[in-house]
This record gives sequence, structure tokens and C-alpha cells, in this order.
Amino acid sequence: MNISQWLNYAAGYLAGRCAGAGRVDAEALLGHCTGRDRAALYRDGPDRLSPGQEETFRRLLERRAGGEPLAYITGHKEFMGLDFLVGPAVLIPRPETELLVEKALEILKDLPAPVVADVGTGSGAIAVSLAVFLESARIYATDISPGALEVARENAARNGVLERVEFRRGDLLEPLLDIPGFKADLAAANLPYVPSSEIPGLMPEVRDHEPREALDGGPDGLDHYRRLVPQARELLRDGGRLLMEIAPGQGAALREILGPGWRVEVFPDLAGRERLVKAEKMN
Ligand SMILES: C[S@@+](CC[C@H](N)C(=O)[O-])C[C@H]1O[C@@H](n2cnc3c(N)ncnc32)[C@H](O)[C@@H]1O
Repeated sequence: MNISQWLNYAAGYLAGRCAGAGRVDAEALLGHCTGRDRAALYRDGPDRLSPGQEETFRRLLERRAGGEPLAYITGHKEFMGLDFLVGPAVLIPRPETELLVEKALEILKDLPAPVVADVGTGSGAIAVSLAVFLESARIYATDISPGALEVARENAARNGVLERVEFRRGDLLEPLLDIPGFKADLAAANLPYVPSSEIPGLMPEVRDHEPREALDGGPDGLDHYRRLVPQARELLRDGGRLLMEIAPGQGAALREILGPGWRVEVFPDLAGRERLVKAEKMN
């Protein structure tokens, strides 16, 4: 089979076995095992796969057909135009989280040397993107998972910002509250917010492969944010902002959790669903 026949075959094979998988996955997997990006795959072959490439491609197709997320198979995910390494220790960064990063950039762009905390950093998607796009920023990133912090550190290094991102292991913002005199301009949080009862109904690709501690937010999905709010109040300077990604429908409950002392705005994602809460700390 030539390349285009392989792609047609693989797209059909995946579509029949794994919901949501198809040609895009076939192209990414073929690109991965031939060492070519998508455009190069079409532009400059190879015309045929070597027996080794054929065997590798078949193995990758099998994994994808079994429901393993594409990004775990290739080991990469693009976020904010940057390349992130991902594996089973971290949540795969989602496009909707770019809204949080964009809002943070808008808030911080005029500060001469912003200090940012990213809580539950996972792959480091938020922390590393902010460090790349805000050259004078100092970023502190926490996670409860040592495996996630290892991946995040690697992502900071390969994106050239390791010197400006400090990683600390611990519960929410606790590792930063220990630093004498520490105050942040912004705290970014994409913490687990799926209500526990909804976990069994998630797509198998998510439910069976991504880390449960990156998804489960307790009975109403807001357990982590309930504990985070008082910590953020202590950590932020007056006028500092707390950005929290949420699931659609959680805005009103989170407003109530925040209570007085915050100026709160809720923003929709590109699909028009509630996705982000911005809370400005008032004196
Ligand atoms: C939804 S994932 C988000 C990862 C990343 N920030 C992103 O946007 O792609 C949530 C992350 O929070 C971490 N986490 C869960 N509970 C935590 C806690 N109590 N303290 C710190 N991090 C926690 C998980 O390990 C996971 O990496």
C-alpha cells in the first residue's frame, strides 16, 4: 500500500472501532512513526512504509482503536502554539484552557514583573505558556502529583523557561504560603471540577486513561475550589486576580463560594458555555 492507501485504510479502521477517531488520528500516527509532520507526509512521502514502519504503525493503530488517547500515544500535545510532552501522569491540556491563559496575559501584560501561581499545574501547560509569553514574569507552579511535576519540569526545560518557573509539590497553594512575604498578582487554577457522580459517564477515552486525581472534584465538582478560595485570599496581593476554569453551570455556585470581598466575572468559552471565573481580590 502507498501512503494515501494506508491513510484511507487506517482512517476507516479507527472510525469503526473508536468513537471520535478517524483520519486526523491516522495522519498523526503515521506522521509519528515516519518522523514527518502532517504536511510533510503529503508533500514528501515516503511512498511506501518500510516493514519496520508498517509494524510500528499497525501497533499504534491498535492502541488508538483500543481507546488510548492520541496524545498519550504520540507523547505530545499542542497548547497555545507550544509543544508539550504528555503521558498518563498528566491531564492532556484542553483547548478551552487557552481561554484562561489568554485572560491571564490580558491581566498581566502591563505589569513590569508579574508574580503568578499556577495551582494543579499538571503538564505545566498554563505555567509554561505564561512564562513563554510574559518574559518578565516569575511563575510558581504546584501539584499534588510527583509524576505530573516531573512532566511539567521537562516541559519548562524544552520550552526554555525552566529558570523562571519554580515547581513545588503539595496541596493546592500550601507550598507557596510557606514562603515568607510571598504575594502573587495572579493565581491560575484549572483544578479537577467534574462531579464524582459524573465520572462513570465520561467518555471512556478520558475516564479510563486520564488520571482520576486530575478529574474528580467531589460531590458537586467544587471541593478543590472551596478549599482554594481562602488560600488564594491569603496569597494574592490586594487587587490580585484568581482565575478558575469551571464546567458549564458551576458559575453561580462558585460565586457563592467566593462570597463578599471579591469582584467576580464569569466568561464563556468559544462554544458560549460558562468556562472561566475571574475573581479580583478587594481590600
Ligand atoms: C484538571 S488537571 C489540570 C492540569 C493543567 N493545569 C491543565 O490545565 O492542563 C488538575 C491538576 O490538579 C492536580 N491536583 C489535584 N488535586 C490537587 C491538590 N489538592 N493540590 C494540588 N494539585 C492538585 C492534579 O494532579 C492535576 O495535575
